[in-house]
Amino acid sequence: MASVTLKNISKVFSDPQSKKDVTAVDNVNLEIKDGEFMVLVGPSGCGKTTTMRMVAGLEEISGGEVLIGDRVVNEVPPRDRDIAMVFQNYALYPHMSVYDNIAFGLRLRMLPSLPQQLLNMGETNRIKADIDKRVRNAAETVGITQFLDRKPKALSGGQRQRVALGRAIVRDAQVFLMDEPLSNLDAKLRVQTRAELIKLHRRLGVTTIYVTHDQVEAMTMGQRIAVMKDGVLQQCDTPLNVYHYPVNKFVAGFLGLPPMNFVENATVSAKGENVYVDTSAFSLRMSPTKAEKLREYVGKQVTLGMRPQSLQDKFLATPEEIENGTVVRMHVDVIEPLGAVTTLFLNAEGINMVAEVEAETPAKENGPLDMVLDGGAAYVFDATTDLTIV
Ligand SMILES: Nc1ncnc2c1ncn2[C@@H]1O[C@H](COP(=O)(O)OP(=O)(O)OP(=O)(O)O)[C@@H](O)[C@H]1O
Ligand SMILES: [Mg+2]
Repeated sequence: MASVTLKNISKVFSDPQSKKDVTAVDNVNLEIKDGEFMVLVGPSGCGKTTTMRMVAGLEEISGGEVLIGDRVVNEVPPRDRDIAMVFQNYALYPHMSVYDNIAFGLRLRMLPSLPQQLLNMGETNRIKADIDKRVRNAAETVGITQFLDRKPKALSGGQRQRVALGRAIVRDAQVFLMDEPLSNLDAKLRVQTRAELIKLHRRLGVTTIYVTHDQVEAMTMGQRIAVMKDGVLQQCDTPLNVYHYPVNKFVAGFLGLPPMNFVENATVSAKGENVYVDTSAFSLRMSPTKAEKLREYVGKQVTLGMRPQSLQDKFLATPEEIENGTVVRMHVDVIEPLGAVTTLFLNAEGINMVAEVEAETPAKENGPLDMVLDGGAAYVFDATTDLTIV
């Protein structure tokens, strides 16, 4: 196993038609530790696949260095980088059995590298036995032993996905690169395979870079997650740190379900001890710790951010929550009961907000509802830079 280090890596594509340069990856610095499971996440087109392809050696690097362990691999061809890949379109060989699909790469690697005529039968048989052992181990790991004789077309999508994974792990590589490997699976199978991959990583401990645009996958699988936007790395930290302490409005809005509510054109004001974020519909009293840091922004324009879980139905709130929060009367536009929780689409004098409350809410569609907004859980962003203030 090995660490993977990206030092100021960039990728510039030139568009042959417009002759304009497209910077797909912009000066990214990232260190994936030996044995770590790192998730690269971000919206479509943010440069995730391009980053992976540069690590794999499938894309020339425009600037910067990629290191695997201590070795700079910029000029090392893909097959010598000791990397195993699973991509979204994990084409299996349709005419080969599952067994042969998994063994194919190993045979290519181990058998022809020795001059055939110099090999005696004993040597060939020893290598074949070794390949057989590895294929069976890998099949066992991903749970496809009973399908080894089948052709891919006789497998379900999830089973094929596992064959592709088996083909990658059989390699005993130093690094696994996985680019949206679960995207072809249905929701249930995705959750199941996700858990299998986590278990696999715990067992094998292979350094893994995993690309997804699915935030739940990122949060649940990554030991750390790296959030990208427009080719630029925004933040890299543990999932909970990124969730609780997003560096900017983009990261704050990207992680969390339903997404964070943003109220633009708010201003900061102070009255005595208290600091408020004033919107066109309400003034949110901030908690003392947040107030402290916000004081220098008094009079300035900011964006307020509130996760749907920080808006509570007053009817369900504790006296303490009501005391510490700010009560705002809102209009209930739509109610979506999800069973365990209920999503409310609310409106306060033209400001739309989404709240996630307990299922016991007495809220009625098209009726008024008093909500308690938690000023201790609110976020405030600089209106010009979008950086998090508190
Ligand atoms: N060969 C290419 N030539 C020109 N531009 C390219 C090329 N490959 C990718 N791009 C551009 O680089 C940017 C990043 O693409 P990339 O495939 O890395 O995104 P991504 O984050 O993997 O997105 P997705 O989630 O949709 O897979 C995009 O704007 C894309 O259009
Ligand atoms: Mg991609």
